Amino acid sequence: MIRCNEPLAKHTTLRVGGPADIYVEPASEQDLAAVLAYCHRHGWQLFVVGRGSNLLVRDHGFRGVVISLAQPQFSRIEVMGERLICGAGAKLKMVAVEAKHNGLAGLEFLEGIPGSLGGGLRMNAGAMGGALFDVVESVRLMSFDGIAHERTAQDMTVDYRSCPTLKDHIALSAVLCGQAGSREEIEQRMNEYSRKRWQSQPAAPSAGCTFKNPASIPAGKLIDELGLKGSRIGGALVSTEHGNFIVNDGTATARDVLALMEVIRQRVRAERGIELETEVEIIGE
Ligand code: EPU
Repeated sequence: MIRCNEPLAKHTTLRVGGPADIYVEPASEQDLAAVLAYCHRHGWQLFVVGRGSNLLVRDHGFRGVVISLAQPQFSRIEVMGERLICGAGAKLKMVAVEAKHNGLAGLEFLEGIPGSLGGGLRMNAGAMGGALFDVVESVRLMSFDGIAHERTAQDMTVDYRSCPTLKDHIALSAVLCGQAGSREEIEQRMNEYSRKRWQSQPAAPSAGCTFKNPASIPAGKLIDELGLKGSRIGGALVSTEHGNFIVNDGTATARDVLALMEVIRQRVRAERGIELETEVEIIGE
């Protein structure tokens, strides 16, 4: 599926941002390789979007090709013993649900991460003390020249909220590992995580946590301590529920969100001498 001038706001959970010149959902790995070859030949910039849950697109949109692995071919989840072979387009929540159905423990923390596996791998997404690469055995990747290959997780560079290997590769699928466990206990843990999340995080549109946690203090706590919760620029406001979330009241622009991020960063720098690093990925012009 190919569309021109596709509004990217609708492909993000924050719901702001302009259009992509070209938006493509390849139906197969061969299609994807052909799109990559086309981009390379014509010098098009490209960006792979997951479920857009950690993404801020600027208001004038993206000059180039945005690729989404949203077609069914890329969203399969297959269970083999204690392993799950998951397509990059699969929702992390579905991975957690599938693991639960098959009595596989250790993947419960994925239930509340609103992204796709591919996006989750690129940022080593995490929640409830777990991070995605804790449970990844191997990843099937495609380099930008269209060649697919497999790598073990140990062969990839992985950090807190980042996987540099995936800056110049596209994740196609991954093998995740669980351990046989009691379905009731798995369900209980998932319910507990869900309850904690709904208690501490906003339901309004957002891009998740805005900043990475500095080593010394969680960003949300820091922003809270500085009294910035509820601060607003245009339609963007610092969530009153969690200081590290910027929510869209339905009228925000990317410019509002970026301006609010800058206000937070400056206050934190001036009052605590801490340099906040953005967790949300920012693209476009
Ligand atoms: N806190 C406050 N005020 C706030 C927010 C938090 O005092 O407004 C305090 C909490 O009471 C707690 C501490 O700060 O003592 C940490 O807060 P929380 O447990 O909410 O976790 P977090 O470090 O803010 C991390 C991840 C989240 C993930 C949660 C839950 C990062 C940047 N964030 O948040 O991930 O959902 O743990 O496990 O690592 C994301 O990456 O987008 C994200 C939302």
